[in-house]
Amino acid sequence: MVKGIALAKRTTDAMSKNASLNYDTRYPSIAALKQRAMRRLPNFAFDYVDGAIDDELAKRRNRQAFHEVHLTPRYLRDVSSVDTSVKIFGNEYSIGFGVSPVGLGNMMWPGAELALAKSAQAARIPYVLSTFSTTDLNLIAQQAPDVCWFQLYVPRKLEFMEDLIARVKRAGFNALVVTVDIPVGAKRNRELKNGLKLPYTLTPKMIWQSLTHPTWALTTLAHGAPDFVNVARYRSGPDEGLSEFVSNMTIPGLPLERLRRIRELWDGPLIVKGLQVEENFRQAIDCGADGVIISNHGGRQLDAAPATVDTLRSLPSDIADKITVMIDSGVRTGLDVLRARALGATAAFSGRCFFYGVGALGAPGAKQVIEIFRDEITRTLQQLGCLRFEDLDSSWLASSEG
Ligand SMILES: Cc1cc2nc3c(=O)[nH]c(=O)nc-3n(C[C@H](O)[C@H](O)[C@H](O)COP(=O)(O)O)c2cc1C
Repeated sequence: MVKGIALAKRTTDAMSKNASLNYDTRYPSIAALKQRAMRRLPNFAFDYVDGAIDDELAKRRNRQAFHEVHLTPRYLRDVSSVDTSVKIFGNEYSIGFGVSPVGLGNMMWPGAELALAKSAQAARIPYVLSTFSTTDLNLIAQQAPDVCWFQLYVPRKLEFMEDLIARVKRAGFNALVVTVDIPVGAKRNRELKNGLKLPYTLTPKMIWQSLTHPTWALTTLAHGAPDFVNVARYRSGPDEGLSEFVSNMTIPGLPLERLRRIRELWDGPLIVKGLQVEENFRQAIDCGADGVIISNHGGRQLDAAPATVDTLRSLPSDIADKITVMIDSGVRTGLDVLRARALGATAAFSGRCFFYGVGALGAPGAKQVIEIFRDEITRTLQQLGCLRFEDLDSSWLASSEG
């Protein structure tokens, strides 16, 4: 009897790995991975990724706005093969979707950042490493040499900023992404309620949550507590707690002269992340930026922020002619990537999708997310009758889109 059940389970498991799909179909969507991550991670870790600011309205608005972008399919053409690739700053990527920077990544799953970087390299999609990542930037650059970009939270002290940019350059990162949408630390209620604070120490509540999630707890124990290894050297001393360090280190609002200085120091592609208003896009262009990522930080900073899709839609066309426009915040499906493309974005990114993936499945979750997106992008291009991702433009928007 027991043997029969085991055999039936093996058969079901084998069936669930659909031969034509390159991922585990028991978790066929980001929504399914999110459900599993919620069960598998202690609340404080899941909430850190999933949570947003205040009532989390901007996070919801981001999704809603994607839902409202409608595309019209074209039939009567052969779509047996489609080209999903895209060129960004002269580099070819296999799909127009990449990994947004996420700080403290290894808290969600030990080794998550390296697993994501390696999978991004294998799949050839952009991987953006956060300033507040917990894996040595040199290791990431070695393991993901063709696809690694570095995200910069600008240090207050000019000499720290210059030193960090020099290290990133020496390591061989392909692009620098300057995040400008955190002039002040956000009040995120889930984090406060869970007692998540830095230094990353376990409160009794967090210990209880960890004990009830033994796989996560044992893996974390084996790896040790994550630390901001790439910026630890800029700490003023052992007495400076990590949270003080984070707010002391970063600049409270980035003045334009700093952005100009960054442009002087960094000769590769320079991207400004977090812009939402026309005036700022024009300033970024004036400072010599090559690209922007339209982002509201996944709804984590300002609950009244417009949905990024709406910002993209209202961007004056001459801006997109002068600079590479990308987007994140709310992307959850391959269809969303195509919606963004039709609205004028070169590529789209997400932070949470990837961390739901590794939270749900550990390191293999990185590839699972990429392959779900590859499959959805491919099928949707076929469904739309668009043979090349790069050909998808506003002519595919439903006429109600204007
Ligand atoms: C847990 C978490 C940590 C983040 N840390 C950073 C960071 O260190 N630097 C940064 O520029 N953005 C950071 N972001 C924002 C993401 O880069 C990205 O803008 C956001 O995740 C997009 O929304 P989505 O995850 O809903 O797709 C973080 C987001 C999350 C969810």
